[in-house]
Amino acid sequence: MNHPAHTELSAHAEKLIRGRRATRAFRPEPVPEETMRAIFSLAAAAPSNSNAQPWQVEVASGPARDRLAAALREAHAAGRTSVDFPYSDDLYSPVQQERRAAFGGRLYGTLGIGFDDHAARAAYDAESLRFYGAPHVAFLFVSGEDNARLAADVGAYMQTLLLAMTAYGVASCPQGLLSFHADDVRAELGVTTGKLLVGISFGYADDTAPVNHISTGRAALGETTTFHD
Ligand SMILES: Cc1cc2nc3c(=O)[nH]c(=O)nc-3n(C[C@H](O)[C@H](O)[C@H](O)COP(=O)(O)O)c2cc1C
Repeated sequence: MNHPAHTELSAHAEKLIRGRRATRAFRPEPVPEETMRAIFSLAAAAPSNSNAQPWQVEVASGPARDRLAAALREAHAAGRTSVDFPYSDDLYSPVQQERRAAFGGRLYGTLGIGFDDHAARAAYDAESLRFYGAPHVAFLFVSGEDNARLAADVGAYMQTLLLAMTAYGVASCPQGLLSFHADDVRAELGVTTGKLLVGISFGYADDTAPVNHISTGRAALGETTTFHD
């Protein structure tokens, strides 16, 4: 392959894309409304099949965010879950399971939680339902037909949103765990259509928290990507 042509834009892209990271401790101050509007307007530039834009975005802040956190805590305590997209650990291949275990070891190690300490891990899951202390949470619903294919479009929207947040200095954590309480989220926000794919906690990062400094590697390029001539 030829030597890559580095440009000002590619340098910005490297910084932006590699600058995003999952943040799990936030400061309480809210993101100004003008910044929120800029971020969500930019995210809407995401691509989708035939430009259908099959996403439905519900953002909760202030009292709505607090009510949601309370509802999710209650659901968790009652052992009540509801998913729109079925989940099973079996959906991961052995190599993917290894990557997940390596990540889990790093995360729980940084938190001082032992690998077999299931009680402490469950407590941390419960804490994550408080959006890791973030003042805002966005829920991404797949709208339209009941077809998993549309989740690709919403995935494209999600990453565009995460990068837009990064560009405006706003930290985020996509949380699949939040989608395990789809009915409670719907009831709390008065949402009647769509399927809940993922929630995203966001706000300003607490840089003093060690959990915000864990590094996650990636598989070597050749493990995931093949170039055909
Ligand atoms: C679809 C999706 C679901 C995720 N769910 C969770 C979650 O429930 N809880 C959590 O703490 N992090 C969650 N993450 C964050 C991942 O753990 C994180 O993106 C991954 O370990 C790579 O780290 P990085 O984002 O810092 O590069 C999720 C990420 C994605 C894209």
